[in-house]
Amino acid sequence: MKKLVGIMALGSALGLGSVAGQAGEVEVLHWWTSGGEAKALGELKSTLESQGVSWKDMPVAGGGGSSAMTVLRSRVMSGQAPTAVQMMGFDILDWGQEGVVANLNGVAAEEGWDAVVPAALQKFAKYDGQWIAAPVNIHSTNWVWGNKALLSKLNIAVPESWNDFIEAMEKVKAAGFVALAHGGQAWQDATVFDGVVMATGGVDFYRKALIELDQEALTSDTMRQVFDRMRQLRGLVDDNFPGRDWNLASAMVINGDAAFQMMGDWAKGEFLNAGKVPGTDFVCFRTPGSQGAVVFNTDQFAMFEVDAERQDAQLKMASAVLSPEFQVAFNTVKGSVPVRTDISDEAFDACGKKAMADLREAVTKDTLVGSMAHGHAAPAAVKSALYDVVTAHFNGTMSSDEAVTQLAASIQNAF
Ligand code: GAL
Repeated sequence: MKKLVGIMALGSALGLGSVAGQAGEVEVLHWWTSGGEAKALGELKSTLESQGVSWKDMPVAGGGGSSAMTVLRSRVMSGQAPTAVQMMGFDILDWGQEGVVANLNGVAAEEGWDAVVPAALQKFAKYDGQWIAAPVNIHSTNWVWGNKALLSKLNIAVPESWNDFIEAMEKVKAAGFVALAHGGQAWQDATVFDGVVMATGGVDFYRKALIELDQEALTSDTMRQVFDRMRQLRGLVDDNFPGRDWNLASAMVINGDAAFQMMGDWAKGEFLNAGKVPGTDFVCFRTPGSQGAVVFNTDQFAMFEVDAERQDAQLKMASAVLSPEFQVAFNTVKGSVPVRTDISDEAFDACGKKAMADLREAVTKDTLVGSMAHGHAAPAAVKSALYDVVTAHFNGTMSSDEAVTQLAASIQNAF
């Protein structure tokens, strides 16, 4: 840690830290590069530009953010930390521990963030009692998106149970359409896995296996069944799925080439960007079997320590992100829900209203859990161990038994 701080100090002594920065500019590293994502981010750019803060864009494509995190590390090591970085869960805490982040306590106190941001989010926005990140949104991963016209044409109702869901997809496949639009990338396989674990084992099992990393849960029959179900899904994707980006999989559902996509509610941003209306053109429902639970992730802008001349713009950005107006403008486009508990659902569409109601219910019933796939269940090393096994199983011929054994072992070795 000391070494990293030393390198940063050297970087700013050489003037590297301020190469890109003039007063009134924020340099922002993020992975919001799809149509819907870029449109949502545009809301932040224009809000800041209206306050005289210019935007230096540093996009690093790749859902889930692994590539963005690699770029970030090399930037910080060379003393060129961006002003703000899109970040999730345990990664934020890791950077907090490195001691290279900004202190947002002043603006947070002035604007009363403690009172309006749910505790589940504060857990990742603060390090050692200090606000280091500005939470932008709340997404959740246990969603399915369906093409309404195709489902009507095939006389398929929204499935309530896992078996109904599989039956529905078999019907779609038999009719010559793609049942499940999916992109074979590790983070997408893991995103599906989040929902399948919840649908198969319920909240207590999800917590035990993916948050407490309990060996008994990880090696249980329930986990074996989770992998059996992943294998069922593998039989319902098309042949071209390897490597496909998530938004191209969304496009298959939008265009009616595929019936369903199992993806976080950022997928809704793609439907909206294509001019589609929930309830009319597409349906949103919880991964069948996981109703009543919410597997969440929250994108936050982690703020890095910057030169004095860049601090003002950084604080303006933090303040803008938490403002009620921005929260509505951004989240209605992005597919997520606000991070503030004091915002009405009036401006949100049917899926957004459902997401907000589900979240309230999950907080009350204690069925809100962090997404493993998106860094809110366990630290990065565990997440990547899980990615490896889930994706090797999904893309290969590994049996459920082997997958269970490998998962439990590689999670144990990740510490
Ligand atoms: C997630 C992120 C979302 C969405 C998605 C795909 O990790 O939380 O905001 O953008 O990646 O890029």
